[in-house]
Amino acid sequence: MEERQKKIIFLKGKKVNLRPLRKATDFESCLRWINDCEVNQYLATYLPMSEQKEEEWFDKTSKSSDNIVFAIEVSDVLNGGMPIGLIGLHNINWKDRTAVTGAVIGEKEYWNQGYGTDAKMLILEYAFNTLNLHKICSSVVEFNKRSLQYNLHCGYKLEGTERKQVFKRGRYWDKYILGVFKNDWLPVWRTYQKTGKVKEKI
Ligand SMILES: CC(C)(COP(=O)(O)OP(=O)(O)OC[C@H]1O[C@@H](n2cnc3c(N)ncnc32)[C@H](O)[C@@H]1OP(=O)(O)O)[C@@H](O)C(=O)NCCC(=O)NCCS
Repeated sequence: MEERQKKIIFLKGKKVNLRPLRKATDFESCLRWINDCEVNQYLATYLPMSEQKEEEWFDKTSKSSDNIVFAIEVSDVLNGGMPIGLIGLHNINWKDRTAVTGAVIGEKEYWNQGYGTDAKMLILEYAFNTLNLHKICSSVVEFNKRSLQYNLHCGYKLEGTERKQVFKRGRYWDKYILGVFKNDWLPVWRTYQKTGKVKEKI
């Protein structure tokens, strides 16, 4: 059963595959990631996540048509099939055709190696070319330089700053509001498809 389920690939990327969440195998990893303060310092969450609350989140998410969440799996031969995080389209507004992306790579040894970029490229392709969404937004706390950078290099543009909006690490920080349209993302996608990089080498 597990072998069969491991082969589910909804979106296939260069370094990762995205597949639907699977409570039976993803629950423990998600609980560990969300309770890890090195990970959750970058997220909106700040309360401990109990098993019960995590169960409620899984159940609510699986039934929601306005939130689409995928498990991110590495696709290399050695670690193939291993879930390293989550990425989702949230608060989908089917009239305005907008959504908000959220991502977390919970396995920290995978940070900074392009896995997040690959997952983001895939979910934007799905958002624009399958769901026909018009604009995708994201928000990033000031000290999360890595998230800001990967959003910008995927085509997002800074739309505004909510000054001293977020209290973390004992003080207030700015919150950056970002947005990307298909026309911002498409040239990045084409370059990425051709070269495996988000920017052409000069
Ligand atoms: C944010 C996250 C999804 C990004 O995924 P990732 O695989 O680590 O990111 P990538 O390797 O694809 O890209 C990271 C980029 O940030 C850059 N970067 C890393 N640290 C940086 C820093 N301190 N300052 C500036 N840029 C930085 C990297 O150089 C890379 O950009 P480049 O390819 O243009 O050089 C992942 O790190 C994560 O889950 N972090 C914890 C939770 C989180 O922050 N979620 C997002 C909340 S908004």
